Amino acid sequence: MTENSAEKKPVKFYNFSPEERLAWLEKNSTLSVEKLNTLSGKTGLTIEQADHMIENVIGVFGLPLGIAQNFLINGAETLIPMAVEEPSVVAGASFMAKLARAGGGFTAHAGNPEMIAQIQVIELPEIHTARLLILEQKAHLLSMAAEIDTVLTNLGGGPRDLEVHLFEESPIGPFLVIHLIFDVRDAMGANAVNTAAERLAPEIEQICGGKVHLRILTNLADRRLARARATFLLDQLAFDQYSGEEVRDGIIAAWAFAAVDPYRAATHNKGIMNGVDPIVIATGNDWRAVEAGAHAYAARSGRYTSLTTWSKDKQGNLLGTIEMPMAVGTVGGATRVHPAAKVALELMKVTQASQLAEIIVSVGLAQNLAALRALATEGIQRGHMSLHARQVAVAAGAAADQISRLAAILVEENNVRPDRALEILSEWRK
Ligand code: MEV
Repeated sequence: MTENSAEKKPVKFYNFSPEERLAWLEKNSTLSVEKLNTLSGKTGLTIEQADHMIENVIGVFGLPLGIAQNFLINGAETLIPMAVEEPSVVAGASFMAKLARAGGGFTAHAGNPEMIAQIQVIELPEIHTARLLILEQKAHLLSMAAEIDTVLTNLGGGPRDLEVHLFEESPIGPFLVIHLIFDVRDAMGANAVNTAAERLAPEIEQICGGKVHLRILTNLADRRLARARATFLLDQLAFDQYSGEEVRDGIIAAWAFAAVDPYRAATHNKGIMNGVDPIVIATGNDWRAVEAGAHAYAARSGRYTSLTTWSKDKQGNLLGTIEMPMAVGTVGGATRVHPAAKVALELMKVTQASQLAEIIVSVGLAQNLAALRALATEGIQRGHMSLHARQVAVAAGAAADQISRLAAILVEENNVRPDRALEILSEWRK
């Protein structure tokens, strides 16, 4: 593939068979056939490997893995592996990425990979004095923390800061919570920060005289934010009977709904996570951690709201932005153990966790637009129906060369039902 190019030959990837798609990837990515076999599951995670990952293993569980196309992120062509069971997700992201190209694609940026460990200190004689005692020893505590993981410190990571938060009222009375801020470089970081929190606990008890209770990271990783933005040219937005202005204004009004109403924001953000989670999963990262961080961040003002914004520029083009915590790694955990996860990173040419975070939020933004564009115009059922119709056609026993034709008829008749699919197939067989 050509790097740094906004021009791209249209590929009928969608119409290919899985084998044809793999053959296309062999030509158009840096991956070898062996690696593609790993990514596609032919030689993926073994039971033996799985048995080392969790307990009581009896097998491995498959999910469809699709490749989202057309993404230009920070000027680089990027093929996106997405592990997801929901129809329309991969197609929606790919289509919005195509629209974004005319406006220069996605510009994304991830901040420092700083995670926070929380250390709860209870049974204190007096919390304000305890707070000062700990702050007086901040430099000492940070230098102790730097000794714990010398590999991380040598890589340029390690402890960055320490804060003390007071909770004057709680069901158990006053207590304080220390935030140990840790740069975890390319790791997700849970192990590094949890270890540091546990090791510092006795020293903290010595310093302030209380009892350290919980020592655990927070998934509200608000010091590890990733952001992306994109411009969608007005003339790219028009389709069918809808003008570019109608589509743009409809999207902005749909976003406004999510911005003010938590009931809508939950669904709006779920649509964003439709783009985020499949990459987090395909790269062996902890999607529950990313989900928890996303929703807690969306509620940071006290009212749950949208993770994206949509507006227009002076020329009338549509502008989208996204900002959310992105605690993902490229080293450690399943990212290195799961053979397909390693290949997924390689397909995206990701070498650093920050790059992965930038890709993930770009796809989240694209996915949000796919949903809003459909909801603000024809509704989501039409798009869903054509993919659903293909599934119905396959289930009814259509041969490979009959699936598209049969699905098209079912959609055309607005009757996507298994009995109708069987009826049409039996007419064809006559
Ligand atoms: C469905 O998986 C996601 C949507 O509900 C998102 C949204 O409503 O914005 C379509």
